Amino acid sequence: MMSNENKRLNDIISHCKEYGFIFPGSEIYDGLQAVYDYGPWGSELKKNIHDLWWNTMTRRYENIVGIDAAILMHPTTWKASGHVDNFNDPMIDNKDSKKRYRVDHLIESHAAGLKEKGNEKEALELLDKAEALLAKDDFTGLKKLIENYRIVCPLSGTCNWTDIRQFNLMFSTQFGSTSSADEADNLVYLRPETAQGIFVNFLNVQKSARMKIPFGIAQVGKAFRNEIVARQFIFRMREFEQMEMQFFVRPGTQKEWYEFWKEERLKWHYSLGIPKEKFRYHNHTKLAHYADAACDIEYEFPMGFKEVEGIHSRTDFDLRNHQEYSKKKMQYFDSETDPSSGKPYGNYIPYVIETSIGLDRTVLMVICEAYTEEDLSDGGKKDSRVVMRFSPALAPVKLAVLPLLKKDGLPEAARKIMDDCKNHFRCFYEEKDTIGKRYRRMDAIGTPFCVTVDHQTLQDDTVTLRYRDTMLQDRIPAAQVKDIVWKAVQH
Ligand code: GAP
Repeated sequence: MMSNENKRLNDIISHCKEYGFIFPGSEIYDGLQAVYDYGPWGSELKKNIHDLWWNTMTRRYENIVGIDAAILMHPTTWKASGHVDNFNDPMIDNKDSKKRYRVDHLIESHAAGLKEKGNEKEALELLDKAEALLAKDDFTGLKKLIENYRIVCPLSGTCNWTDIRQFNLMFSTQFGSTSSADEADNLVYLRPETAQGIFVNFLNVQKSARMKIPFGIAQVGKAFRNEIVARQFIFRMREFEQMEMQFFVRPGTQKEWYEFWKEERLKWHYSLGIPKEKFRYHNHTKLAHYADAACDIEYEFPMGFKEVEGIHSRTDFDLRNHQEYSKKKMQYFDSETDPSSGKPYGNYIPYVIETSIGLDRTVLMVICEAYTEEDLSDGGKKDSRVVMRFSPALAPVKLAVLPLLKKDGLPEAARKIMDDCKNHFRCFYEEKDTIGKRYRRMDAIGTPFCVTVDHQTLQDDTVTLRYRDTMLQDRIPAAQVKDIVWKAVQH
């Protein structure tokens, strides 16, 4: 039987497809695993979240500027960043089904199954043991753990496992036209994170934008990871978008900036209108190869608390390595006076605090939070609706303009309102079907306001303004529609 959490996620996935938010990628060819396409309303929602992040990061903080670096980078970038050698996940294959699994995911889903059956203590014990073994890269111990707990392959149902091996998650491709002889020389990677485009441009940006430490560089862009077990809809994809910011600080001050960004970023999440109790921090005990402190901001998805954003104190790992591999100086000259010596701080390689949030994961978070099934039954009359309770600032469509009838000059009057509003925010015009059906369709895509133009409009130039969440209606002058909606959709 399906758990309530899985049912909710499945309902959300169906809703996203039916109402034009998110489609499986290349669906007519039966899809491409863990690749998704955004439809008309999904792409508007994604763009609204992107813009909100970008505007916050590059405007609210005067010492942060943006860039837009290329996806393809010199292959040595990934040697210097550690991704060629360290961007691996331990994998295990089931010999009967021939399916490959990420070891941590296999164990996590077994633990979730134990919890569902009420064996909370056993589940926690399993997770603790797995975490300790993963931290030590003890693959023999991990395989034994899998066998001792009789963790079976979900497909074959057997415990017939290969040894655990590391697999690199980067996608590679060939650069230029190649003969097979020089294929290896022409190997380039699709970036697995946007951060490196920022690091290699650190001095270009600092000098051209005349930035002084502390300062940040922000970027939004595609990243690619050959995730072996990509599940849970757009939560884990092979092609996804990141919104990252690298904040360059004086060595020794990284701890205080790490705490600063932890708080600032959590406040940003709250500002999306999501209740505070739906978020929590998860402090890392096993640190990535570049970090001296790290935490995740987790949101409570239908499948439990999961990471949406990572805050990482990356030390000077990246800049130092790029300096070593490129033989180009990555130093900053700090002319401010060090009070302890009375002299300028001088030359140093800055330390970095990174904030890294998945755009698609944020879309999923906002969709999960907004998705509401409402029972509107009144006495004997059964009725219900699905309403996406997006905050007006994020809603894909802000205003629907609906002539009550497709005649008597009502469409013309409605068109006037469209013309007044459509250059200011996303509007949607619709004449087909009963007004009730049209309202429900607008609820399903989360449109916060509908205006209905009726015969009275022709007499006194007033319209009905209908509010998505309360379904209440006001009679207002048509001339006020634009300002009311505009005010409500500001963040
Ligand atoms: N530059 C640091 C970095 O990439 P990360 O924790 O691997 O750190 C940051 O990724 C964020 O990117 C995650 O918190 C998540 O929101 C998003 N992300 C990572 N892998 C993803 C995937 N396969 N699909 C969707 N989003 C992903």
